[in-house]
Amino acid sequence: MKKNIILIGFMGVGKGTTARAYAEKYKCFNIDTDDLIESKANCKIKEIFKEHGEKYFRSLEQECANWIESSVDDSLISCGGGFFNVNNLNKLGTVVLLDASYDWIYNRLSTAENAKAKLKKRPLFSEPKKAKKLYNERQESYKELANIIINVEGKELKSIIKEIHKKTSKRLELLENK
Ligand code: S3P
Repeated sequence: MKKNIILIGFMGVGKGTTARAYAEKYKCFNIDTDDLIESKANCKIKEIFKEHGEKYFRSLEQECANWIESSVDDSLISCGGGFFNVNNLNKLGTVVLLDASYDWIYNRLSTAENAKAKLKKRPLFSEPKKAKKLYNERQESYKELANIIINVEGKELKSIIKEIHKKTSKRLELLENK
């Protein structure tokens, strides 16, 4: 059984920030699926969408999931918001959903210091109305696929990473003693 922590959730919920803080505190490697895809394609996500379309991007996400399944363990993986659709997600590790309302996420993104850049690099967030629709469409799947759900609204980063550590460790312990 894999000991990876697989961080899923909607764009802008704070997966990257949380993953970096977690990796620093608990001394583990943190891999981001968007970064892996960009490095393999030698191209920014925005350009991949523009030049090859979303379907192609999704196939790269599946390739990335296959590589994690075959080659990565004991790491924290922060995933792009649509990565949950890969067909082997539950084989990659403990799936942790960072959950928050759409309004909280939109507010977090649009009031960030580098808000423009944060919105610009996410092609599926270019139209807030469409992004909200996507959010609503995905909620059920996110929750169904998650082994652990963490509501992040109004919580400090420190307490979020503590909660992730506590709950994932407990789950692993239970599974190992089965
Ligand atoms: C996407 C989320 C993005 C990125 C791509 C598609 C999505 O990642 O993978 O733009 O489908 O939700 P973040 O969740 O890190 O923004």
